[in-house]
Amino acid sequence: MKILVTGATGFLGKYVIKELLDHDYSIVAFGRNEKVGKALESERVQFVKGDLSSIDELRQAFQDIDAVVHAGALSTAWGPWKAFYQANVIGTQNVLDLSREYAVKRLVYVSSPSIYAAGKDQLDIKESDAPKENHLNNYIRSKLASEKLFSDYPDVPSIILRPRGLFGVGDTSILPRVLRLSRKIGIPLIRGGEQLMDMTCVENVALAIRLALEAKVAHGQVYNITNGEPKTFKYLIETTLKGLGEPIRYRKIPAGLVAGVAYSLEGVYRLFHLKAEPPLTRYTYYLLRYSQTLAIQKAQTELGYYPKITIEEGIDKYVQHDRAH
Ligand SMILES: NC(=O)c1ccc[n+]([C@@H]2O[C@H](COP(=O)([O-])OP(=O)(O)OC[C@H]3O[C@@H](n4cnc5c(N)ncnc54)[C@H](OP(=O)(O)O)[C@@H]3O)[C@@H](O)[C@H]2O)c1
Repeated sequence: MKILVTGATGFLGKYVIKELLDHDYSIVAFGRNEKVGKALESERVQFVKGDLSSIDELRQAFQDIDAVVHAGALSTAWGPWKAFYQANVIGTQNVLDLSREYAVKRLVYVSSPSIYAAGKDQLDIKESDAPKENHLNNYIRSKLASEKLFSDYPDVPSIILRPRGLFGVGDTSILPRVLRLSRKIGIPLIRGGEQLMDMTCVENVALAIRLALEAKVAHGQVYNITNGEPKTFKYLIETTLKGLGEPIRYRKIPAGLVAGVAYSLEGVYRLFHLKAEPPLTRYTYYLLRYSQTLAIQKAQTELGYYPKITIEEGIDKYVQHDRAH
């Protein structure tokens, strides 16, 4: 079977390709970064360069494929709505239109549980708990809007996954940010670091994607994906920093102050149309302050998803890789 993987040149995409190659699939890898894309090419991987917002460029990748993993997205916490709309909403609509036109056997869409983000503790969130709207940032808004498109395509056999907090070797987002912060000013500690975080090893997300491609479940289903082992913020920070041999320096900060700074920074950046991401956003503040865990029973029973790597093993892999490079 030949699978089109959008976002193939990104962090998750490379793990998806590995997981699929290990299970005898062939791949059409789609992305804009030609250098990274060409490096992916092999006997069973063909690279097609293009932008998701151009249906003509995307069409080139739909030739002779059986199924699609749509993991490409503008995936940052800050930026203008137009950019997110083009990449994530129009991009997903193009994927849906072509999936219909080429009658693909399955479309697995990688969405995001960031759509659940709210200023409160939320434990055991179920797929059906998704809000109708969430304008916390343009990324979240675009992911929610892209999910809504699927109801207009009941004839496209699709499954939506919402994997939370991906980490692993090659991560350019979560762990590197934490390390930068730790080295520069220390780790901001709110509520004593006892809030729960529900992370996912990137290898497990790739596994969930393959299972979603193969599962005999009804189409139109949505699944939360995590490691199923929520850990406290403090545990995650200390295990990682100790492993890396880095000092653990906390900065105890009152939650109200962090909130105030995040709101003010966003206001200033918006007022002056600053392109860079503010050093602290309301989304990061929510992540640092509130517990959020997801129910993954639906993925377990319907997809047969059981993580193959534990959080501890995932951190250890990251640490070993970092130490060796
Ligand atoms: N990382 C997380 O914690 C997390 C959590 C939940 C959900 N997700 C979702 O998982 C997916 C993969 O995320 P990631 O962490 O792997 O992000 P990433 O490393 O930033 O990769 C994003 C990928 O999307 C491609 N892309 C972006 N805009 C594009 C466009 N206009 N046209 C074509 N390709 C475009 C990029 O291609 P080029 O670089 O070649 O342009 C890249 O391959 C995304 O859908 C994201 O929303 C991620």
